[in-house]
Amino acid sequence: MESTQRANFGSRLGIILATAGSAVGLGNVWRFPYMAGQNGGAVFILIYVGCVLLLGIPCMVSEFIIGRRAQANTARAYSKLSNGTAWKWVGYLGILTGFIIMGYYAVVSGWCLEYIYASLMGHLQGDTDYVQDYFERFSTNPWKPIVWMLLFFGITHWVIVRGVEKGIEKAAKLLMPTLFILLLIIVVAACSLPGADKGVKYLLHPDFSKVTSDVFLGALGQSFYSLSIAMGCLCTYASYFGPKTDLTRCAMQISLIDCLVAILAGLMIFPAAFSVGVNPGSGPSLVFITLPNVFNQAFSAVPWLGTLIAFLFYALLSLAALTSLMSLHEASTAFLHEEMKVTRYRGAAVVSAIGAVIGVVSSLSLGGYDALQLFDMSLFDVFDFVTGQIFLPIGGFFTCLFVGWYLPKRIIHDELTNGGTLRSRIFRPFLFSVRYVCPLCILLIFLHQLGII
Ligand code: PHE
Repeated sequence: MESTQRANFGSRLGIILATAGSAVGLGNVWRFPYMAGQNGGAVFILIYVGCVLLLGIPCMVSEFIIGRRAQANTARAYSKLSNGTAWKWVGYLGILTGFIIMGYYAVVSGWCLEYIYASLMGHLQGDTDYVQDYFERFSTNPWKPIVWMLLFFGITHWVIVRGVEKGIEKAAKLLMPTLFILLLIIVVAACSLPGADKGVKYLLHPDFSKVTSDVFLGALGQSFYSLSIAMGCLCTYASYFGPKTDLTRCAMQISLIDCLVAILAGLMIFPAAFSVGVNPGSGPSLVFITLPNVFNQAFSAVPWLGTLIAFLFYALLSLAALTSLMSLHEASTAFLHEEMKVTRYRGAAVVSAIGAVIGVVSSLSLGGYDALQLFDMSLFDVFDFVTGQIFLPIGGFFTCLFVGWYLPKRIIHDELTNGGTLRSRIFRPFLFSVRYVCPLCILLIFLHQLGII
């Protein structure tokens, strides 16, 4: 009964694009390239791909199994499959993690909108100090980032209330190909700059001497964040997958898209930065300070081209952020809709409203109100730290244990083979991975991130 009433994605392409949309986000653009450049280039990329294949995909498939089997939002899914035992808290944790991330993610997404506007208006043109000052003044302004953040929430809300198929799927089918085209245009423009080959070489040059255990753990953490694992999103989306969806194949295709976008982002950033002699960093300063400078200098002979590339870049970033934010929003909306028995429309309104409050607090903590600090960190950083470094590993760890040790093997086999209609070659390696390899590795990242090992 329940499964026939439940919303569903309408097509396989829709499933892939919507879920890849969740995975492809700011993490691909502002963290992956930097980590690859710093940690051995091509070697890091290989390690990263290894982490995705051996650990990321099994974790993703685990969430898919839970979501599709239960046909319910993340909290109910764990509860349903465990008959209401304590495992349900893993589901609640996923929703909470996604919800908090949504608040601060929307702030940065709003910055991207401001930079679309600023690049079009030519406000980003100036020398290095000017560009830095522009970002500092903007991000610490009490109300401007909030207005953009609210606008971004408004757009996300608009997509979400239209529903799974007409909202999320339709938007993903439009936005993801656009994102890919923008990415290719910028990669070509960046790689054709004089001296760009040095950037490509830096990114792809295999440097084995840089490989340490830190690099492995860094790659692992990044792969989990980038694949949107343990945030309630994958599980929620999987509850909209149809019975014929091949979960393993989907996870592989989504991960492939995510890796490809991350590598292409590197091929966009490094060649451009190296052509003007800048060594790019990561995070907000890369995207909002270094890159505007790079665009200004690299295209100084043809300023309109610099403006155009900057505009395309921030448009790309906004699209990547929007499709990720949609998945974060949906995880909480589905939860309220199904658990609190409110209409989807009302559920989405509550999520947007409370999410916007978290966004306002995070934004103000960056400068408007210094009192919004905890442990000497702005609340913005606290939210990022707590979700990415603490909740994510805990959620991922218990999800693996849940699927590997708690769920009956019959259910896993059934989900992996769609009731026996697909071949079951991966059943054993999958089980081995979620039982032993994934939990152990996640535990290692967790302890490493906390500085314990
Ligand atoms: N995967 C996204 C990124 O790479 C971040 C994200 C995490 C989005 C969790 C949704 C859920 O930026």
